[in-house]
Amino acid sequence: MALISLTGIDKFYGTYHALRGIDLDIAEGEFFSLLGPSGCGKTTLLRTIAGFEHPENGVLTIDGQNMKGVGPNRRPTNLVFQNYAIFPHLTVAENVGFGLRRSPLSRADKTKAVAEALAMAGLDGYGPRAAHALSGGQRQRVALARALILKPKVLLLDEPLSALDRKLREQMQTELRRLQRQVGITFILVTHDQEEALIMSDRIAVMFDGRIAQLDTPEGLYLRPNSRAVGEFIGLMNLLPGMLRPEDGRLLADIPGLGAIPLPPDLVAHGAAPGPATFGLRPESLSLMSPGGALPTGQFVDGTVTERTYYGDMTYYEVALDGAPDPVTCSMKNLVSRPVLERGARTRLAWEPGALILFPDG
Ligand SMILES: Nc1ncnc2c1ncn2[C@@H]1O[C@H](COP(=O)(O)OP(=O)(O)OP(=O)(O)O)[C@@H](O)[C@H]1O
Ligand SMILES: [Mg+2]
Repeated sequence: MALISLTGIDKFYGTYHALRGIDLDIAEGEFFSLLGPSGCGKTTLLRTIAGFEHPENGVLTIDGQNMKGVGPNRRPTNLVFQNYAIFPHLTVAENVGFGLRRSPLSRADKTKAVAEALAMAGLDGYGPRAAHALSGGQRQRVALARALILKPKVLLLDEPLSALDRKLREQMQTELRRLQRQVGITFILVTHDQEEALIMSDRIAVMFDGRIAQLDTPEGLYLRPNSRAVGEFIGLMNLLPGMLRPEDGRLLADIPGLGAIPLPPDLVAHGAAPGPATFGLRPESLSLMSPGGALPTGQFVDGTVTERTYYGDMTYYEVALDGAPDPVTCSMKNLVSRPVLERGARTRLAWEPGALILFPDG
């Protein structure tokens, strides 16, 4: 049974329809992310689960209990806000223990709980420090420890890492994931950073305009986006215009620059019909071949490098394929034995037909 279940949830701000028929089940112990562009309704959905927003329609249950009329502090959830206000005049330990001030626990048990929460958040030994003298990353850890000490069934995190610089954010991503596995409670993370969602989540709901566009595992979203919008939002995607045409009782994908190939079987099952279509191909599914290289599988095409961007570990190339209207993007891992090509270089690209994604037009 799902721990959190939403059915037909609608939320209006005045006449603005912010959540549009949200259906969602989240399992116990899951690391779940809500991902989408600014204004798509992520925070609204999180606050609805926490009990700070009241949906006009639909049913929300947590642990099988209908949450209608149940206030935020009577729900087994705890929300960590993006700019979490810690009390600057208190110590770190006092900040973390704040939520226990009315708890019937003994003083010794409270001290122990604070120490445990500090350790979980990677703040061992920071208890006596003044909270105003912490870095952004340390404040975020205090906010986490303060939420964890209440032992919620569900921890709701609204863009908890967005204020941190890149290195610290990556470190906290790994730590949050480890922490979630260790404590085993359900995490629901709001983020507009697709990489963060892919790295951390068991499952992701991609939201656009108050709706869930796709709910899937990270691999499912990346490899099998169900629409162009999702395909373009997650990672880089070449979108290639083409045609599906019947020949000898099967469908051919005719893609200028790549040629005509029999449609791979899983795309046939995708409900393909003859006519114009758009094909998606990830940059890593196109590879530069060394001159005279053998081709074990798939197909190859020739073209000219029109742009290259060097990232150290990777180089991204734009290649104008002979006969194609627009250049394609292709990513290559840099190896000592692989020279980086310059603009204007002629090259041959291998590509995998099996990596094609079909987006029916219209
Ligand atoms: N209290 C409110 N009154 C009126 N409109 C609101 C209110 N809160 C949010 N909205 C609107 O609802 C929509 C969804 O807002 P929400 O804060 O859920 O977006 P979000 O996905 O969290 O965006 P971001 O990534 O920018 O935080 C937005 O268009 C926003 O302007
Ligand atoms: Mg938000």
